[in-house]
Amino acid sequence: MEVKAFYWKGDHLLLLDQRDLPDKEVWLKLTDHFEVADAIRSMAVRGAPAIGCVAAYGFVLGIKKEKPEKVLAVLKNTRPTAYNLFWALNRMAKALKEGKDIEQEAINIEKEDYNANKRIGQIGSKFIKDGMRILTHCNTGALATAGWGTALGVIRSAHYSGKKIHVFVNETRPYMQGARLTAWELLKEGIPHTLITDMTAGFLMKKGLIDAIFVGADRITKKGDVANKIGTYTLSVLAKTHNIPFYVVAPTSTFDPSIKDQDEIPVEERSGDEIKSFKGCKFAPDDTPALHLAFDITPAENITAIITEEGVIHPKDL
Ligand code: MRU
Repeated sequence: MEVKAFYWKGDHLLLLDQRDLPDKEVWLKLTDHFEVADAIRSMAVRGAPAIGCVAAYGFVLGIKKEKPEKVLAVLKNTRPTAYNLFWALNRMAKALKEGKDIEQEAINIEKEDYNANKRIGQIGSKFIKDGMRILTHCNTGALATAGWGTALGVIRSAHYSGKKIHVFVNETRPYMQGARLTAWELLKEGIPHTLITDMTAGFLMKKGLIDAIFVGADRITKKGDVANKIGTYTLSVLAKTHNIPFYVVAPTSTFDPSIKDQDEIPVEERSGDEIKSFKGCKFAPDDTPALHLAFDITPAENITAIITEEGVIHPKDL
């Protein structure tokens, strides 16, 4: 059964708190833009397309009480890397200026994302052959989007088209999106999978146990360079070494036309405490300094293809 990360209820947003998964399904009732901003910043909701959709609803709630510019500032100042956040909020601001029904605009953003994912699934599943062993990183499923998912959506589509596949799920340290969220989604849908530590991936590739890699994206440049969850770059290098196709899957709302060079992509740095402890359990000395980059950037030349709802891009041709 496909899961859903949020529901718009007209005067509030119901949000599945992803910090408690897979242990508990806790739903948060968000009634203003401050609560929505907190949910994005604290990663109660995460995944670039889901962040964009939720921010759009946050805008609808916010402008009931506050000037649009202030609402935009609060919502934009949450997580810097996922482009869908800025794409959705800029679209909402434009809709307001043009006198459009902004609640409908947010609903459209959600619907369009869901439809884009379904289309991406159809396009992308052509790259998955019967019997393939697929590696994925982070969570790119229904929880990370308006539904269905991007990279995980492609995997889901391949599974539903009857292909027998096996998914290796990187645990995705330190936030464990793979272990907590992707494994949870795959289990719910009965898609065969195995959880591995992030460091196991390279050795599986060497042993010939991975046929293809599918990951999502947080921001894509005009040249096809891709910001995604930390560890994606490492996987792309390993894929190149072992001659394994490396696919990035994302809706066109993740493409940032303004970025000229990959170094211009803002890479979120989160608290070092998040890598020294997990769910209250500390495992590193308190005083040890820690660097926690939430994303990395994979250069276009390491990517076999980028799969979008509008078709497939081969970064080498960009
Ligand atoms: O820090 P997160 O969990 O928001 O990071 C999510 C990712 O890196 C995903 O791969 C990306 O947002 C695409 S989700 C369809």
